[in-house]
Amino acid sequence: MDKRELNLKEENDVILLKLGGGLLTDKEKPLSVREEIVKSAVDQIINANAKIILIHGGGSFGHPLAKKYEILNGLNTSVPNQIFGLTETHQAMVKFNSYLVNLFLERNYPALSIQPSSIFINDSGNTINNSLDIIETMLDLNILPILYGDIIFDKQGSFSIISGDQIIFKLCEELKKYRISKVIFAIETDGIFINTQDNKNKNIKLVPEILSSDLNSLNLADLGQKIDVTGGIKGKINSIKDICNFNILVQILNGLKKNYIFKSLKNQSVICTVVKINN
Ligand code: IPE
Repeated sequence: MDKRELNLKEENDVILLKLGGGLLTDKEKPLSVREEIVKSAVDQIINANAKIILIHGGGSFGHPLAKKYEILNGLNTSVPNQIFGLTETHQAMVKFNSYLVNLFLERNYPALSIQPSSIFINDSGNTINNSLDIIETMLDLNILPILYGDIIFDKQGSFSIISGDQIIFKLCEELKKYRISKVIFAIETDGIFINTQDNKNKNIKLVPEILSSDLNSLNLADLGQKIDVTGGIKGKINSIKDICNFNILVQILNGLKKNYIFKSLKNQSVICTVVKINN
């Protein structure tokens, strides 16, 4: 802990790190963790000794249940047991989140879970939150706040899913006391891939660097994300565009590559996609 307290230089900077559900879980098997990958990510975060807000996705915990019960589109009485499915979807995420939080605590690292379905609510198309003071106070105390993709209630008597990416957007919009120095998306590929046509062969290639204003014109390669109810890579591009509107740099990197998460948290260069802001 002392080391963290000595890290006064960029006291009010925080990095938002999203660990994708596809990275942390086995997509082929519901409710299954890729243990070595998760443990490695946790170790890298601890070793980086930086001020971070951690957000993780649903992967094989959240998505299959959310899909089965059609949670994203809200209350639908023709879906059998949908309300029970809503609670089951949430509980699957709680289980996964507890596993992750425990890994930090087992390593004597202060991490604390924040339940997104208890601090965010939708109202007429807007997501409202009155609890970001809690997160800022945790950061003041050198506690690692951990949030996750979850169900979200709607004041009009319905519900949906709040993805990790949407949580990041809200944090970018509303954190006051802390400056977000960058947003890192750790996924299971090297970054954003585009289609290319070399010598009549169709191919794909990584985009190492791109301006946020050019994100719309990308010929995105489809790497196939079967279980994702919240939008896949196209959804991710839209989230990134929204984040860039806050003048925040975004990095999309491969969380399977050795120490990439650590290196990125320490601002060391890695092979990935960097989305820069125009100005
Ligand atoms: C989805 O969160 C959460 C649920 C389906 C309950 P995300 O959309 O952030 O998850 P990943 O990263 O795509 O798995």
